[in-house]
Amino acid sequence: MARIAVIPGDGVGKEVTREAVKALRALEAHGGPALDIVEWPHGADRYLETGQSITDAEFADLESNYQAILLGALGDPRVPGNEHARQILLGMRFRLDLYINFRPVRLYHERLTPLKGKTERDIDFVIFRENTEGVYVGMGGTFKQGTPDEVAIQEDVNTRTGVERIIRAAFDHAKANGLERVTMSDKANAMESAGGLWRRVFKQVSAEYPEIQTEALYVDMLAMDLVRRPERYQVIVAGNLFGDILSDLGAGIAGGLGLTASANIHPGRVSMFEPVHGSAPDIAGQDRANPFAAVLTSALMLRHLGHREAGDRLENAVRACILAGETTAELGGTLGTAAAGDAIVARLENS
Ligand code: NAD
Ligand code: IPM
Ligand code: MN
Repeated sequence: MARIAVIPGDGVGKEVTREAVKALRALEAHGGPALDIVEWPHGADRYLETGQSITDAEFADLESNYQAILLGALGDPRVPGNEHARQILLGMRFRLDLYINFRPVRLYHERLTPLKGKTERDIDFVIFRENTEGVYVGMGGTFKQGTPDEVAIQEDVNTRTGVERIIRAAFDHAKANGLERVTMSDKANAMESAGGLWRRVFKQVSAEYPEIQTEALYVDMLAMDLVRRPERYQVIVAGNLFGDILSDLGAGIAGGLGLTASANIHPGRVSMFEPVHGSAPDIAGQDRANPFAAVLTSALMLRHLGHREAGDRLENAVRACILAGETTAELGGTLGTAAAGDAIVARLENS
């Protein structure tokens, strides 16, 4: 039985994770896989009480004794420097070497996109975001802080190994799913060293996949074109920062952050699953957060653990609720977070 560490975290993370676990339990009670769920108390509350975010021993525990981690969100206005969130969230991505940040963008109903005339057929792509390098590595520092001469340096680290493995993951996904094209996105016109490496490696790896079309696009142009012609895109591979930005853009054209799921994967090792959204302090504690992104995230987790059919049942339950208008307010419905979770459970009981 797969052992899952559930970290609800902060803000709406707690609310949406409760509903995701409820859905997983309902699935379990109706023919789905049994899961050994262990709840972890990590987040701002614990950090403010004890000064501890996450320890080396806990990372080792996750690595050796768990198959997956289901995370809500981290970030709390009481921790303005966000250090606990970086230590836990980026800590897991870096220390567990979860180099694939897989972020699917799928429109479930045409009324949910702000793009005129686009339908479910037009918005269906995946982003492979490099998750262990780039400007996220925290290399750099400040000099003469607080003075008019202040200097801030934030290095962008790109290794051949790191670039190659995420590009390969994107091509493998395209091949395994019969997709035609992989789009690589960078800013090689302005950031020549990093972009040059990305383009050379992209070309080299693509030679191993002759059946797949390729293109390298500057990220500014791609951002524009994703709004104009999202139907052109199937698989996008990008560095850490550009992948982050493009994934929120993807959420924006596919119903918003209440619907977008993500997986942080290192094949064969413990992997981490989280909605793309954050702790949403503006709506936390009000029963307003949409739990569907967390439920769809659980579907990614189940599929990753080999339970494809159970993952499909979860995704189908979300789609059915959306089609029936059983949603939270930001998608036009009247349900609160818990009631939207109940609507998913009702669908699962009949699936
Ligand atoms: P956010 O994703 O928390 O919120 C952005 C907007 O989307 C807000 O208006 C919010 O109300 C809305 N929203 C988010 N999730 C929603 C949901 N499930 N249902 C309905 N509406 C939803 O991004 P932010 O405001 O930039 O960041 C808030 C905090 O979360 C920050 O501390 C940030 O660092 C953190 N954060 C954490 C993660 C993570 O843990 N994976 C991801 C992104 C941001
Ligand atoms: C995400 C978030 C994080 C990121 C933040 C909270 C550090 O925006 O998971 O997309 O930038 O990766
Ligand atoms: Mn983000």
